[in-house]
Amino acid sequence: MNLQQSLVQEFESLLGASVHFPQEYKVALAPLCEHLEAHALRTPTERQARLIAHINSKFNVNRDGIAKVYAHAASRGLVFNFHEKNLIQAAFDSGDQSAFEEAISKASSKEGLVDALCRLFAPASPAETISYFRGEVEAPSKLRAEQGDRAIGNEALLSAFSAFVFSAADQEVLHSYFDSTYSAETYERAFWLQLRQLHPQLYSRERTLDIAKIDQELADSCGSLEELRSAVFAHVSTSYQELENHGHLAYWIEPIVVEGRNITWEICSDIMLFAEKHDEVKLKNAYFRAKQIESETVSHVPDVDVGQARFDLANEGFTYKDTFVCAPSPTSPAGSESLLLLFQKNKRDETIIPCPACRTRDVHGNSYSSLGVRSWECRNSLCPDRSKYNRGKRYSFKAILMQEAIDEVESYIPPESVRKWSRDVQTERTIYDATEMLIRHYSLHGDGVALFGVDAPSDSLGRRFLSHGRINTADGNSSAGFFESPWFQRYALPSSAQESKENASSTTIQRLGSLTMVCGNSAMVLQDWPENYFDGAVTSPPYFNAREYSQWPNIYCYLRDMLIIAQGCYKALKPGAVYLYNIFDYFDNERSVVFSAMGDKRLILSAYTVDIFRRAGFHLSGSITWDKGDIEGKRGFNAGNFSPYYQAPFNCWEHVLVFVKPPAVETTDLSSALPAILRAQPVIKMVKGQNTYGHTAPFPIELPNLLRALMPKGGRALDPFGGSGTTARALDGYAAETVCIEQKEEYFELALKLFDSHRMATTNVAT
Ligand SMILES: C[S@@+](CC[C@H](N)C(=O)[O-])C[C@H]1O[C@@H](n2cnc3c(N)ncnc32)[C@H](O)[C@@H]1O
Repeated sequence: MNLQQSLVQEFESLLGASVHFPQEYKVALAPLCEHLEAHALRTPTERQARLIAHINSKFNVNRDGIAKVYAHAASRGLVFNFHEKNLIQAAFDSGDQSAFEEAISKASSKEGLVDALCRLFAPASPAETISYFRGEVEAPSKLRAEQGDRAIGNEALLSAFSAFVFSAADQEVLHSYFDSTYSAETYERAFWLQLRQLHPQLYSRERTLDIAKIDQELADSCGSLEELRSAVFAHVSTSYQELENHGHLAYWIEPIVVEGRNITWEICSDIMLFAEKHDEVKLKNAYFRAKQIESETVSHVPDVDVGQARFDLANEGFTYKDTFVCAPSPTSPAGSESLLLLFQKNKRDETIIPCPACRTRDVHGNSYSSLGVRSWECRNSLCPDRSKYNRGKRYSFKAILMQEAIDEVESYIPPESVRKWSRDVQTERTIYDATEMLIRHYSLHGDGVALFGVDAPSDSLGRRFLSHGRINTADGNSSAGFFESPWFQRYALPSSAQESKENASSTTIQRLGSLTMVCGNSAMVLQDWPENYFDGAVTSPPYFNAREYSQWPNIYCYLRDMLIIAQGCYKALKPGAVYLYNIFDYFDNERSVVFSAMGDKRLILSAYTVDIFRRAGFHLSGSITWDKGDIEGKRGFNAGNFSPYYQAPFNCWEHVLVFVKPPAVETTDLSSALPAILRAQPVIKMVKGQNTYGHTAPFPIELPNLLRALMPKGGRALDPFGGSGTTARALDGYAAETVCIEQKEEYFELALKLFDSHRMATTNVAT
């Protein structure tokens, strides 16, 4: 019997299943087995044990046993870090009691606890693993997209068999076979060391983090907002060129007043827009849906000039990660907060990365896991790391780099730092705290960090600092060119309201006390509304494609509609009136490049909004940070991983942008009227998963209540996206009239009903 036959026989008799080997598989297997025969092989017992461990790990057979260990440890105050968890998992999967005891003893020295945990070591026996696996072969539990039209049971067997063959000898024997450029002299057992040898440029750590300060002094030396913007944009472009790929760029923006107006939030928004969109690329990749995007946009925005809009250009740049709002204290006034703005560079890179498991170069770039991040799929049918149901291994260089960050113990972040920065609303933090956090969380030991107007920390934390002085104010062309570039020609057109007037007649108006409820589309309703009518406005618009009532083909169409409504509000507001606009930079696909999940990202809706409102004529005076508390938790959860690059904080706030129709009324001092941070619980009325409130996205009453301090008592207020009419209830007894415009009849009715109940309740209280 040759090796191939004996491996097949051993595998089938161990698992009690017979495998169907497709012809191409057999053709690939035969020469590999010949290669193996020329080398020292592991004993059958050893390779069978490895197969069992492989199945345990692939199918997570020991999950319940491991969960018991974690739960017991947690009940005694012990939480394992990522490495410890890996060791525990490996010990369970290989049934290695002494490896388990070693891992536990390293993690804790608490008397009694180590023994108690060791008693919980109950890995699946080989017979249990085999029975579990056979169950998956006969009735796979997770078919999902994996299945297609394949006979999935046999695919699971083939995948396990490939791993089994790989375990027949030492990894180098197998790598020397699959890696066409293998050489014994340069071979590295660790994949990343091998990759570093192959593509040293990918691993350059010369400059992996840029931190720059933008403050009043910088603004004063620029002289105007326009000059400041131009200098900062030049800095962003240079950073994009010079930072290593997957490196980070951060700006610490202090409160800045230019010509009597606090422009901290405006400069922050403009940087977000520019950083994400400044690089115009004639993208040839098949995933770029330029034609479809153009036709969708043209049918929604008929006056778009396709020659100017250049839909064939994709906009690339930094990936926006987050803005930390850092207020002096929880009760500080609006305008006193500093902002810490964070981006990552993820630039398309087509360098072929061999498969980290088998090291073949027979891989193909099937797609991008996210925009700018190339993802590869291994095509070797004998790779030991194919999926459970035998798809090729998928991986990206970015993921490999992040894995390396985990392996580098020297770069570990102290847990206090992770805890301290776990939310993106902060108080009492200084630029020194922020610098230290950025260095620890977003660079590795030995990396080069460039500082612009920022002091290096007294402890270098093992990093090299490249000090550049402050942002250069002489740099930069005018930023105006950017705001006229093709991106904006796709929606930000000067002419307004395109819709035909015929539909306007479908508007219904109903009055109830101080509420004027209008059922209709704000774009049209506001066209006909008297000018200079309202003393203030507050709203929460639809967030692009977030809900059943807010669906647009792409971001351009959405922004076009929001611009028209902003123009309508501008016209209907009195000069000096304040307009509060609640918006959230949430995760979705803006459908400006690709429609699949690879286009999902943090949308910069607040930055788009600031720009379209400026175009409508408004001034931005600031933004109130609506702190929603500790919700939407999972995204920031780091699973005990204290390595750089894994510390995404909880996104716990939304914007309430404060716009003013100029000229501003001198007597309205926004900072004394408004807080920097408004803590309010979101409205969630759920019973057994059902929304009992009647509207899917009401805002808490604390938001429209803010308007009371910003408009005269007895004045008129507007909410152009009225929803359930929260604004009218908030302002009842203060505003003489609140006009809520709502296009959905169901919400129009709901708003009237809720307002009626509110009036009954307030009358009852009064009597
Ligand atoms: C986020 S909700 C507002 C919720 C509201 N603040 C509340 O507390 O109930 C946005 C609302 O705007 C409505 N809407 C969307 N586009 C509109 C338009 N063009 N004109 C009027 N209403 C619109 C939606 O139907 C939805 O009810």
